[in-house]
Amino acid sequence: MTDLSAFIRGLPKAELHLHIEGSLEPELMFELSRRNKVAIPFGSVEEVRAAYAFSNLQDFLDIYYQGAAVLLTERDFHDMAMDYFRRVAADGTRHVELFFDPQTHTDRGVPFAVVADGLLAGMAEAGREFGITSSLILCFLRHLDEDAAFATLKAAEPWLDRIAGVGLDSSEVGHPPSKFARVFAAAGERGLKRVAHAGEEGPPEYVWEALDLLKVDRIDHGNRALEDPALVQRLAAEGMTLTVCPLSNLKLCGVSDLRLHPLKKMLDLGLRPTVNSDDPAYFGGYVGENYTRIADALALTKSDLVTLARNSFTGSFLPPAEVAKHLAAIDAYASAS
Ligand code: ADE
Ligand code: ZN
Repeated sequence: MTDLSAFIRGLPKAELHLHIEGSLEPELMFELSRRNKVAIPFGSVEEVRAAYAFSNLQDFLDIYYQGAAVLLTERDFHDMAMDYFRRVAADGTRHVELFFDPQTHTDRGVPFAVVADGLLAGMAEAGREFGITSSLILCFLRHLDEDAAFATLKAAEPWLDRIAGVGLDSSEVGHPPSKFARVFAAAGERGLKRVAHAGEEGPPEYVWEALDLLKVDRIDHGNRALEDPALVQRLAAEGMTLTVCPLSNLKLCGVSDLRLHPLKKMLDLGLRPTVNSDDPAYFGGYVGENYTRIADALALTKSDLVTLARNSFTGSFLPPAEVAKHLAAIDAYASAS
């Protein structure tokens, strides 16, 4: 454990890359399995954790979609969200833009309303109880087709005033951003922000497509962009935020050792990375732990950590006055530490 961990805990942070279904801890999975009488193929919490050994993204996704099957009611989605917020409140997290995957639930017969209203109830309670602000990003599953994405956008219509943006997740390779250019354009016409996973396992071309065809406001992951110098130049020139997830990259074998993680290189290249947890229940750490572990592995300085925390607010979808308030709090904290 680094001696920077206390500094990191007190540092005001936003999390911009968090799949709420990926915060479902095995304990809650078992509780919901009992509560909803949905069988899961595990005998104990320890057995679940032992199954979390992945060699790539698809390995993880198979088990992640299986775990989500215990979520049936508004109360379940509320409880999962509150579990997450309780943990990150203790980490010094002030704001979260959380991904949810409606198709994972609607395809099992759980109505969109149950998912959205349950999450929104948890988010409102976290605001009251912990003072954490949050917004929702609706992700389309890229292994499904364009029609299914359009149907999801249509189902979301009554909630669009409470949804900040759309995203693109699930199996990346073989499902390029171009597949979703039209539904992202439709989302943009409705005033929604746009983000997409790109360059997690997929090639730099997918990052170009996310910029040029999906017109994204942020790139989720973006690690493989570093293979293309012209792309690095473009991302730097546009001040594009990258939502980087160190422990996820380690667990899914994008890097073999955190000491080889590209985060420091991204900073040195003038990019705008942020630190996030992705699916903390599966990858061994919430956002604070991601900061602590990567700071340790890459010998990050307090100044690097302040830059990363500042990037998390400048890259957020908060109104400018809110961003300014958080940046002032970071600066006050850094000069007092
Ligand atoms: N869904 C949940 N976590 C994901 C990740 N890391 N990449 C793509 N899709 C995801
Ligand atoms: Zn992700």
